[in-house]
Amino acid sequence: MRVCIIGTGYVGLTMGACLADIGHDVVCVDIDGSKITSLCNGVIPVHEPGLSKIVEKNYKRNTLSFSMDVGEGVSESDIVFIAVGTPFNEKSVDLSHVESAAKGIAKGINKYTIIANKSTVPVGSAELVKRIILENMVYPHKFDVVSNPEFLREGSAVKDFLNPDRIIIGTDSQKAAEIMTELYRPLKAPILITDQISAEIIKYACNAFLATKVSFINFIANLCDAVGANVKDVATGMGYDKRISFEFLKAGPGWGGSCLPKDCKTFIKIAEDCGYEFNLLKEVLKVNEDQKRLVVVKIRQLLGDLKDKCIGILGLSFKPNTDDVREAPAIDIINHLQTECALVKAYDPAAMENAGRILKGVEFATNAYEVAKDSDMLVLLTEWDEFRWLDFERIKSLLKKPIIFDTRNCLDSQLLTEFGFVYTGIGVKGISLEKIQRPETSLFMEAQGLEGESLI
Ligand code: UDX
Repeated sequence: MRVCIIGTGYVGLTMGACLADIGHDVVCVDIDGSKITSLCNGVIPVHEPGLSKIVEKNYKRNTLSFSMDVGEGVSESDIVFIAVGTPFNEKSVDLSHVESAAKGIAKGINKYTIIANKSTVPVGSAELVKRIILENMVYPHKFDVVSNPEFLREGSAVKDFLNPDRIIIGTDSQKAAEIMTELYRPLKAPILITDQISAEIIKYACNAFLATKVSFINFIANLCDAVGANVKDVATGMGYDKRISFEFLKAGPGWGGSCLPKDCKTFIKIAEDCGYEFNLLKEVLKVNEDQKRLVVVKIRQLLGDLKDKCIGILGLSFKPNTDDVREAPAIDIINHLQTECALVKAYDPAAMENAGRILKGVEFATNAYEVAKDSDMLVLLTEWDEFRWLDFERIKSLLKKPIIFDTRNCLDSQLLTEFGFVYTGIGVKGISLEKIQRPETSLFMEAQGLEGESLI
């Protein structure tokens, strides 16, 4: 099929490249000329594993192209995806990019066309798009607006798009449902056809539920700290229950990113507009804010007064394998450390450029060892793989004090303690002794993110 995608962010670019890879003809359109020029020159604007390769491959075989011309992209396509940003501004979601995309689409429609919305938008947005298109159409043609939310995650976007758990198609049109089903047929995933509003709600409900799950385990982790339990064991014990599952039960410094925070706030607003107080989700957001504060409190407990102390930070992105620092816990935590007059030295394998645009007064290092040199302690904030395999004897010799705060519980606490480090995690007291006696089942390893590692 011929597909046009409007917006070349994480979602638009990934789905464009992937749809081209499974056999469709795709044109990705963006109003940002410099982005389009870069893409035509093979420069991918985001750090996303596997994306450059798949873009390059499909660009070379002419199944993927880039353009600034919305009208042409639309007129040559059967399906047009809207994959533009929908930021949450102060009190509500900003739909201006969706609106201008809809206006552009209206001018290019020259036959029956499906307009599929990939951007996460509040309830009723499909109707808004439909109205804008009707008002701005040059020649009357039939069209259908479909709500088709995307569930890919940054850091594993290509893999997620090509192996979705399910595909949601929100439409009342039988014809549109059939064409969309055909588009996704090569992915061999379950397809749920529903009405537009339900499709819109599904996306928010998923992200709100995931945020709730992480806030829940973070709260349990803090309780584990208080009573001397181990949250990794608690999460594993919970995860074996298939009704709960192991996913999204890793305690940490709080959740962030471009979607979960924004979508939770929008979902609360959607409920509010219906006269309903989404108190549960409000509390989930509060627990998340508290979690970031708690990291600073723990650092203070370990070092005392933070004035002029040098804190070495490992990891700035909101999660590994991405350069995205939007709503990253690291940004908030560093800002707090700085308000307490601490000096901050930081390193991230991919996100330093983006972090540098937001953070002021941070010394950026070229690797973890440079961060450790003369720092009073190390705080690991993002679980990049390369941090698991550092030469910790060298790290210890470089630090002023051998203190490590592993906010992602991803390092080997036993080994670090043997090396003479003061090791602190989130809710993991007493981890080292029991670890040796556990069965090495693959399920357990997977749950703990330990695939391929020895437990001892
Ligand atoms: C999310 C949704 O997962 C995805 O379906 C949607 O399309 C976009 O939003 P993403 O923002 O890429 O994806 O990140 P995700 O993997 O969901 O992680 C969100 C945050 O939760 C990160 O800060 C991550 O570190 C944190 N997290 C996740 C935890 O702290 N513990 C966990 O167990 C899982």
